[in-house]
Amino acid sequence: MESKISILITCLIFATAFQLLLPLSEASLEVGYYNYKNRCPKAESIVNYTVSSFVKKNSGLGAGLIRMFFHDCFVRGCDASVLLDPSPANPDPEKKSIPNNPSLRGFDVIDAAKAALEKACPGVVSCADIIALAARDAAYLLGKISYDIPTGRRDGKVSINAEALQFLPAPFFNLSQLEASFAIKGLNTSDMVALSGAHSIGRSHCSSFTSRLYPTTDPTMSARFANFLRILCPPPQNATIDGVVPQNFLKPNRLSKQYYFNVKALLGLFFSDWSLLTSKETRQQVTDYTTTPGLFEADFAKAMVKMGSIEVLTFPQGEIRGPTCRL
Ligand code: HEM
Ligand SMILES: *[C@@H]1O[C@H](CO)[C@@H](O)[C@H](O)[C@H]1NC(C)=O
Ligand SMILES: *[C@@H]1O[C@H](CO)[C@@H](O)[C@H](O)[C@H]1NC(C)=O
Ligand SMILES: *[C@@H]1O[C@H](CO)[C@@H](O)[C@H](O)[C@H]1NC(C)=O
Ligand SMILES: *[C@@H]1O[C@H](CO)[C@@H](O)[C@H](O)[C@H]1NC(C)=O
Repeated sequence: MESKISILITCLIFATAFQLLLPLSEASLEVGYYNYKNRCPKAESIVNYTVSSFVKKNSGLGAGLIRMFFHDCFVRGCDASVLLDPSPANPDPEKKSIPNNPSLRGFDVIDAAKAALEKACPGVVSCADIIALAARDAAYLLGKISYDIPTGRRDGKVSINAEALQFLPAPFFNLSQLEASFAIKGLNTSDMVALSGAHSIGRSHCSSFTSRLYPTTDPTMSARFANFLRILCPPPQNATIDGVVPQNFLKPNRLSKQYYFNVKALLGLFFSDWSLLTSKETRQQVTDYTTTPGLFEADFAKAMVKMGSIEVLTFPQGEIRGPTCRL
């Protein structure tokens, strides 16, 4: 009798807890979140203005911001965990991991946007939304790709070096490894192929692909391209600095379907780029992007929005980090 009652009580507690939790799990992002309830109607234009002014001076920062969005979302969701600096309490955050350090850039852009937002609407706009909006604005500036991005993300407090290594795909990954790393984040193979078009912009450090040049040319890379890259990137054991090269030598600052032409011509820097040719489906998608006008741009926009919803924190989870996004 007593145990029956306790079971009943336990059930009741669970049912109540479940009801309380439901609205949380259903809470979702919405387009124009900061326009509603007078939260911060200028938020999106403040971010856009900040991004524009930085990217006009250095378009590489636009590439950096798009990659920052990817690296944020794939590690603990889009929660700005990638921005947290090392601190005595957390000496080894994502920022220090091999995929992020020293290559990730654009942190100053986020700092400037956050500073402007804190002036206009203190404590309201999350760092996670700033990254998502900044990446969207960069895609427009570099590729005239325009889309609405839902907002209302909140910021996380946890950032762990090892998780960046665990969840971010490496340039030596083959197709099944790439697919698996996107699948655990809820993105499918076509999302992955579409998002890879971001490798039409920005740069890479030599160390990310010299294993394809030395000691011998990786046969999955154009031999002429490899000869050319060997001039720019000495063998790692000779190199005093880790140089950088553009990902797309034709139009390094134009987010475009040119990436897919490069992949087909074995002119991708990474083995992972070449891997998109290794299944019938992905090869077809690569070809479709080269032949169907507007298809890449439309798919890229959709996939960026989808990536922006990975494991997001919404009220009352997380926090609005401030006054800076780094602490
Ligand atoms: C498919 C798996 C991917 C792999 C293996 C990969 C790997 C890499 C690597 C190794 C670099 C060069 C880093 C360096 O050495 O400086 C790079 C750069 C870049 N990646 Fe990816 N990436 C992938 C997917 C993505 C996605 C999904 C995006 C965004 C939508 C993206 C955007 C970029 C951008 C924009 C750059 C240039 C960054 C800059 O110039 O600062 N990548 N990627
Ligand atoms: C961002 O600003 C540019 C002008 O610098 C404008 O053309 C573009 O439409 C703006 N984007 C958004 C989403 O407001
Ligand atoms: C990709 O690499 C993994 C790990 O090395 C291996 O198990 C798998 O068979 C490879 N897949 C393909 C398609 O080559
Ligand atoms: C991948 O997901 C997108 C959108 O979520 C969907 O439109 C597409 O059909 C999916 N592709 C595959 C191969 O499942
Ligand atoms: C690398 O260093 C070795 C030994 O110093 C030298 O013989 C070789 O020519 C160098 N290779 C290049 C490509 O600079």
